Amino acid sequence: MSAPANDRFLRACRRQPVDRPPLWIMRQAGRYLPEYRALRERVDFLTLCKTPELAAEASLQPIRRFGLDAAIVFSDIMIPLEAIGARITFDPGPRVAEPLRTRAQVDGLRARPMSQVVPFVGETIARLRRELAGLVPVIGFCGAPFTLAAYLVEGKGGEGFGEVKRMMFADPDTLTRLLELLADAMAEYLSLQIRSGAQAVQIFDSWAGILSPDDYRRFALPAARRVVERTERADQPVIYFAPATGHVLEDQLTIGADVLGLCWRTPLDQARRRTEGRVALQGNLDPHALLAPPDVVRRQTLAVLESAGDQPGHIMNLGHGILPDTPIESVAALVETVAARVRSAA
Ligand code: CP3
Repeated sequence: MSAPANDRFLRACRRQPVDRPPLWIMRQAGRYLPEYRALRERVDFLTLCKTPELAAEASLQPIRRFGLDAAIVFSDIMIPLEAIGARITFDPGPRVAEPLRTRAQVDGLRARPMSQVVPFVGETIARLRRELAGLVPVIGFCGAPFTLAAYLVEGKGGEGFGEVKRMMFADPDTLTRLLELLADAMAEYLSLQIRSGAQAVQIFDSWAGILSPDDYRRFALPAARRVVERTERADQPVIYFAPATGHVLEDQLTIGADVLGLCWRTPLDQARRRTEGRVALQGNLDPHALLAPPDVVRRQTLAVLESAGDQPGHIMNLGHGILPDTPIESVAALVETVAARVRSAA
């Protein structure tokens, strides 16, 4: 398959020079877009994820509207958990039918092949590659083991993750066993996405920030590293994103990711110094900035670009997913501000 016409996202992941920083937006396909809401009026969320034609359409919507520099496959971090027998629904956040609380439950989990359980994800990616015809690269993704375990043990999100912490302190071996099982399943899942045409993959560790530094190093970090180590890939970059984990940024260099995603709590210039140019950085505009008028969005965007500096290896993004009530004008202001950032030297 040929290299995309717009390869500034992949070049930035590899810390190669680019004409301007690439931009994509976490959760760029979603409810802030009227065309996404129209799609959702016709089908429920799970059907949307499981129908390649519709899922590819959802991924393409923000590309068409804003000309972003990468597309992300439309799915959810919880979708592949069906492969380990979990029954997931959405309301609108994930709900798990039988939360995993005991050693017996974890020992009883049997992983079925991803190619049998979620073939539609591979089909969506193949379809996206065809429809994009090289316009921009396609990003695949998965949840990190700790974040998935947090949902599986709790049964839902939103009201804290006390149950996964209870397991961590009361029965750490069971949690470790669950994390290893999830790591192997996610490595298989990312490998399937890469075989299907994903040109980069992102691992979302959305809840790792609830852990102390020691617990992060003992549980979340080795599990994420195991995903990266076991994923079959050629030169496809891996992005690891764990919001609210600036206190363990140096540790994340051992995960084996090419890019570290940052939330707004860690300034990019500081992160650059602390990571010593060993990885590319992605982020990190506070998504709430997009709730302000366009001139504020422009100013805040420029501040992030300034903080990123001029050396190669920055991918512009938000510091977390875009909020459903974000005005379209704000996204347009973000896109225009980044597009105007042409490097004189390039
Ligand atoms: O453009 C994209 O990035 C779309 C693909 C995508 C979705 N979820 C679609 C979705 C991605 C990459 C995700 C990741 C995801 N899902 C994460 C990691 C990112 C993060 O925000 O930390 C997490 C924690 C989840 C779990 C999840 N799924 C939640 C908490 C929710 C409900 C609330 C919310 O944030 O929207 C979902 C449902 C979900 N996943 C929706 C979408 C578009 C909304 C469903 C709907 O249309 O009703």
